[in-house]
Amino acid sequence: MAFSDRFLEDLCARNDIVSLVSQYVSLTRRGGNYVGLCPFHNEKTPSFNVSADRQFFHCFGCGAGGDVITFLMRIENLDFPDAVYQLAERAGMTVPENDNEVRVQKQKKDRILSLNRDAARFFHTMLQAEEGKEALAYLAGRGLSPQTIKRFGLGFAPDSWDKLLKQMTAAGYTKQELLDSGLALPNKNGGIYDRFRNRVMFPIFDARGSVIGFGGRVMDGGEPKYLNSPETIVFNKRRNLFALNLAKTSRGERMILAEGYMDVIALHQAGFDCAVASLGTALTQEQARLIARYKSEVVIAYDADNAGVNAANRAIELLKEAGVAVKILRIPGAKDPDEFIKKFGRDKFERLLEASEADLEYRLVQAQGGLNLEEDEGRVEYLKRAVKILCEVSSDIEREIYLTRAAKQAGISAEVLGREVARARKGLISKRKKEQERKDLSPLTAKGSPARELKYQHTKSAVAEENLISLLMARPEFMKQVESRLEKSHFSVPVFGKVYARMKELHSENSAFSLTALTRDCTQEETATLVGIFAKFVGGDTVALEDYLSIILQEQWKIKDIDSETALQEAMAMFRKKKGTGE
Ligand code: UTP
Ligand code: MN
Repeated sequence: MAFSDRFLEDLCARNDIVSLVSQYVSLTRRGGNYVGLCPFHNEKTPSFNVSADRQFFHCFGCGAGGDVITFLMRIENLDFPDAVYQLAERAGMTVPENDNEVRVQKQKKDRILSLNRDAARFFHTMLQAEEGKEALAYLAGRGLSPQTIKRFGLGFAPDSWDKLLKQMTAAGYTKQELLDSGLALPNKNGGIYDRFRNRVMFPIFDARGSVIGFGGRVMDGGEPKYLNSPETIVFNKRRNLFALNLAKTSRGERMILAEGYMDVIALHQAGFDCAVASLGTALTQEQARLIARYKSEVVIAYDADNAGVNAANRAIELLKEAGVAVKILRIPGAKDPDEFIKKFGRDKFERLLEASEADLEYRLVQAQGGLNLEEDEGRVEYLKRAVKILCEVSSDIEREIYLTRAAKQAGISAEVLGREVARARKGLISKRKKEQERKDLSPLTAKGSPARELKYQHTKSAVAEENLISLLMARPEFMKQVESRLEKSHFSVPVFGKVYARMKELHSENSAFSLTALTRDCTQEETATLVGIFAKFVGGDTVALEDYLSIILQEQWKIKDIDSETALQEAMAMFRKKKGTGE
């Protein structure tokens, strides 16, 4: 990633973080800072802070944090170069010529997207052609109207090794581009051949409407049922959803999450144009967040089988974390939404939708799985599970309602269950409180912080390193006081060492210590950790600086004494290797 520091500085200077964040989060001024509800986790009281003078954001709740680029990356699910391009556009800047690598990458992406679009057109045309007759009949047989076929851009990949290949080559695409798009595969002789053959084609669009990949379905019982495009530079399965391009503009606050492409298409055809599906994998955190950007409620309409139930349970967690209200639809008498609508009609499905249950109810019903409530043993086990679920519910009213329901299910008195739940809840609260106290004592392992991985081996030195880095960030002019005495290798926490090395570099170039410049070589998690540390920092003077420095240098020897010589050498070797890979 070769954007120059100068360009990135300029980019950040021209994209004020407060104004960008305000497009997504409603912010209130508090002193020199702004606060609001964190868009990256579910919360009711604002712990999301944006600092106008330091140009970074930080959430005290979940630990998210970073600069204007990080924010855009996370909220829009973009990679670094894409976020940079969007910010450049936003500020009316052009990405300079010498940032070649990125420019080339962007051009490559555009080419693949254009190839995908042309391929989708080709497949769609083939569906209307003589050789696509069978495929068209297949889709019609599954109840799809011509309008639906057109709306989803469905197509047919002919039963040939090179038909697409020839067309696309004639249109000017190279062999490498065909391979990079995943539309072609290499053969042993150095040639290539069509990946998708004799399949009904489902183009996959991103939210902006570009064709990023394909799913191809067999028309008989062949295997695999669906063949999907591999991950490519434009196709990220974790960050996209089937039909989101259509569903994002649907009316209302609701999204329907189904398992299959066919379910989604059937739902749209029946008028439920808010349906989406994940892309051949279980729902991911990124997808949950993506949904949360557009809608506030999700109805999970997964298949009625066991796999569907398990997948739903996982999806519930992710969606709630992302801050959307979750309901679960039970599909009686059919294996999936597609079959249900075909069998019973759209109105019945509408009723299912209205009757979909809050996740709590669903989980309580799930808790009965495999148990016989007629027997004492089964009842006891069910109550145990119910207590575990109910004690987590923070709303008294909600807890009361579901508690009564669960008690009725198991045929025991609500009072007895209520007592058990109250006791469990008390235990839970005191456990949480203790955890919190522990965390408050060691602020570095804040709960929910994406950086909670960061465990300090040598706490005393680590805390001094933390303070020193924060102090230098706030007072770059202190750099000259430590520069000659402190090396990257003196740090016990690698990320601090890394940032310190950057500080040295920037200082020698007379460049400012912006978060963007400092964290150039850091991962998102590392950046978030740093911001968390900076946000907590209260300040200090040169005396404090000397203190931190001497602790680090002193502890250094102790650490070396404790660790055996070999361990140290190993660590150094690893460190060099990491540096070598540019990590
Ligand atoms: P389903 O088998 O339920 O497919 O898999 P479906 O979309 O409902 O299709 P029909 O109705 O049987 O024709 C659900 C999803 O899992 C992924 C696809 O995304 C599919 O839509 N999948 C399934 C694959 O990626 N590969 C497979 O071989 C099977
Ligand atoms: Mn299905």
